Amino acid sequence: MSSFSNLHTISFHKASFCEKKLLPGLTFNWSSRLIENKSSSLVCSVVSQDTYHVGLKIHHPTTRSNVVTLIDQTEEALCSTGKFGRFGGIFVPETLVNCLNMLVDEFNAVLHDPEFQAELAIALRDYVGRETPLYFAQRLTDHYKNSKGEGPEIYLKREDLNHGGAHKINNAIAQAMLAKRMGRKNVVAATGAGQHGVATAAACAKLGLNCTIVMGNVDMERQSSNVLLMKHLGAKVKSVEGTFKDATSEAIRDWVEDLDKSYYLAGTAVGPHPCPNMVREFQSVIGKETRKQAMEKWGSKPDVLVACVGGGSNALGIFHEFVRDEDVRLIGVEAAGIGIDSGKHSATLAKGDVGVYHGAMSYLLQDDEGQIIGPHSIGVGLEYPGVSPELSFLKDIGRAEFYTVTDEEALDAYALLSRLEGIFPALEAAHALAYLGKLCQTLPNGTKVVVNCSGRGDKDAETVFMYQQQQMVRRLVTLNGIGK
Ligand SMILES: Cc1ncc(COP(=O)(O)O)c(C=O)c1O
Repeated sequence: MSSFSNLHTISFHKASFCEKKLLPGLTFNWSSRLIENKSSSLVCSVVSQDTYHVGLKIHHPTTRSNVVTLIDQTEEALCSTGKFGRFGGIFVPETLVNCLNMLVDEFNAVLHDPEFQAELAIALRDYVGRETPLYFAQRLTDHYKNSKGEGPEIYLKREDLNHGGAHKINNAIAQAMLAKRMGRKNVVAATGAGQHGVATAAACAKLGLNCTIVMGNVDMERQSSNVLLMKHLGAKVKSVEGTFKDATSEAIRDWVEDLDKSYYLAGTAVGPHPCPNMVREFQSVIGKETRKQAMEKWGSKPDVLVACVGGGSNALGIFHEFVRDEDVRLIGVEAAGIGIDSGKHSATLAKGDVGVYHGAMSYLLQDDEGQIIGPHSIGVGLEYPGVSPELSFLKDIGRAEFYTVTDEEALDAYALLSRLEGIFPALEAAHALAYLGKLCQTLPNGTKVVVNCSGRGDKDAETVFMYQQQQMVRRLVTLNGIGK
């Protein structure tokens, strides 16, 4: 009997949607029960329930805070439960459980395999280009100083300098190595902004694996330069109607059709266990380097970490190393799109309810009937109706804070960083940068803030140009009083 069999009692916030949303295209008929209370005490009880089921011993150290204790308990149970508190899990049909179990075993094996780790370390250094700099943004820092000349010091973790232009390659290269080790010849992945598509295509070319990237037709138009790159890298690019969520469903369907030969390469920290855990682990190099570089630069930890949140991989990549350091604030920034109350946003943690989607339980943008609400963001990589179960857990236990930033604020932040520092960030990363406008005024002088600059903005140059043209027209219209 699989060690995950105890997960097959499913908890739905909106149970009536289970058939539609677990893994689209597959049907399910599982029992359901309701979880509505979102308090940390419930998280606590769920953790201990799950722990009880799998017969693990939980320690309650008296010197640790409740939050750190909860995190420790969750990590200890994660391998067996596949859950972060009440979030995560494996909400998939029985036929997939075996395959995911194999992946769990292989993933656990490579984590402790010195040969794999040595090979990965070389790939990260010589292929990806790590370590990425921790860059002091002097002019951005000056920009946010108050009238007394005081303010926080702003540093950027330069994930935009990675091969392929984003953090995505950290995870893609590691999982492609894992796929090869498992004897899988065909890799399938879904991409939104195209950064994960480019990273996966590159990793597959390097390792001699066949690569199919699934992308929504809407995104293919918005991020066309990345589509070309994927093709140049030898990937087959498969178009589906819609956006990233639709591409993800299709990629999973492709994978399910050929489980023996194909490997689904998750690009963000969502999906059934072990995908969220695996992606976080392979991205955690960002936070590990940040700690070391902060020690070298100013002799202690950062005070605040800021990252944008799509599915959650770059945020967890920088947060994970510091999650037990409660004196380090962890701030995730979601996309408020054209306005947080407009219904056109991707602010899953701010506005979502708990539900099950793409094989795991997490916060989810859904209406009262449990239908997915189509997300929107100018940062295409942030457009997803779900979010990492681990970030949902960190929100529930109060360890991480989450805020939102509109399309317009992100576009302004892109322009600001370009002009002040000569760095053009991806529009996804521009969300994290945009939040500095509100954050900096609240921080004591000299606070060390590290923003994860998760990617570069070449792919967004045209979008920004169009926005700036529209802004100019709007200004002219206002100046001339046209339209009154
Ligand atoms: C540059 C960049 N940053 C952030 C994201 C959001 O993804 P995640 O939340 O998994 O980091 C994406 C997604 O495509 C991206 O391309």
